[in-house]
Amino acid sequence: MSNNTWSRHHILSLADFTTDEYDTVLQTAASFQEVLSRRTKKVPTLQGQVVANLFFESSTRTRSSFELAAKRLSADTLNFASGTSSMTKGETILDTAKTYLAMGTDIMVIRHREAGVPHAIAQEMDRLGVRVSVLNAGDGQHEHPSQGLLDLFTICSLLDPDLPRVELLKEKKIAIVGDILHSRVARSNIWSLTASGADVHLAAPPTLLPKLFADYCCENTPGKVFLHWELEPALQDADFVMTLRLQKERMTAHLLPSLREYHQMFGMTHSRLQLCHPNVKLLHPGPVNRGVEISSELMDDPEFSLIQAQVSSGVAVRMALLYLIGSGKA
Ligand code: NCD
Repeated sequence: MSNNTWSRHHILSLADFTTDEYDTVLQTAASFQEVLSRRTKKVPTLQGQVVANLFFESSTRTRSSFELAAKRLSADTLNFASGTSSMTKGETILDTAKTYLAMGTDIMVIRHREAGVPHAIAQEMDRLGVRVSVLNAGDGQHEHPSQGLLDLFTICSLLDPDLPRVELLKEKKIAIVGDILHSRVARSNIWSLTASGADVHLAAPPTLLPKLFADYCCENTPGKVFLHWELEPALQDADFVMTLRLQKERMTAHLLPSLREYHQMFGMTHSRLQLCHPNVKLLHPGPVNRGVEISSELMDDPEFSLIQAQVSSGVAVRMALLYLIGSGKA
């Protein structure tokens, strides 16, 4: 579990992650996965440090798994939910962050419905000259780096459980299907998967997949991005299919005729999986609209579905991230 090569202080985006950094996260997470399989699942690594979960937007998996990850590393955790905080009395986001700073917080895990909030808080911490790290737990439609990394870990550890590493993804075909326009998960995954050498095939109705996604990644990534406004070409021989929730809370216009029609055109079912590679596996970051982006039977089928594995991987990957940015602080 070496962090000798780790120099990143905040984790805000995957856009500039290197393959060495991806491999360090994957291998560190694999070590923590082993810790989590022991009878005693706790290590003293972050004893005495404070991890504050500042969630200005709803969450089940991300918040709980960051909290559990911090606890497994023996950190003290603080949980904040904006609806029950002094923000209802008019306190600003930066003042809220400074309140947690004054309590001795070492790592702030931040989710906000607006893109850029974690970056703004990180900048303010740097300006103040304090050694507080900020971890982006999802900012608007922009990025969700820890989800991208746990998806990468889930896929790579399926391909080689002993040594998950990015080179395993070379020339794999990965389809991402659903509400790509509003998805920070899609954006983070496009960075990590194309940097790892996988080809990413995006599929959605045109209203949820604008042409600008063709230019989303930098030209030098070994994997490429392809756009499809029909599902079938994206699924053809795909090794993995990642489905995304229709994010109704972010839709400002009527972008779809009906959920029923969406399911007919883009919903994942057992019969549609037959177009894919015979060993295909299915991912979904959750929460799932059962029967809309994926059929209920397929979601619960352990032969294809990695959805529960993604949730379990989330704890090990978030332990890895907290360890890598936190272990220099003690
Ligand atoms: C995602 C999110 O919040 O961006 N969920 C998650 O973190 N597991 C995806 C979603 O909300 O659909």
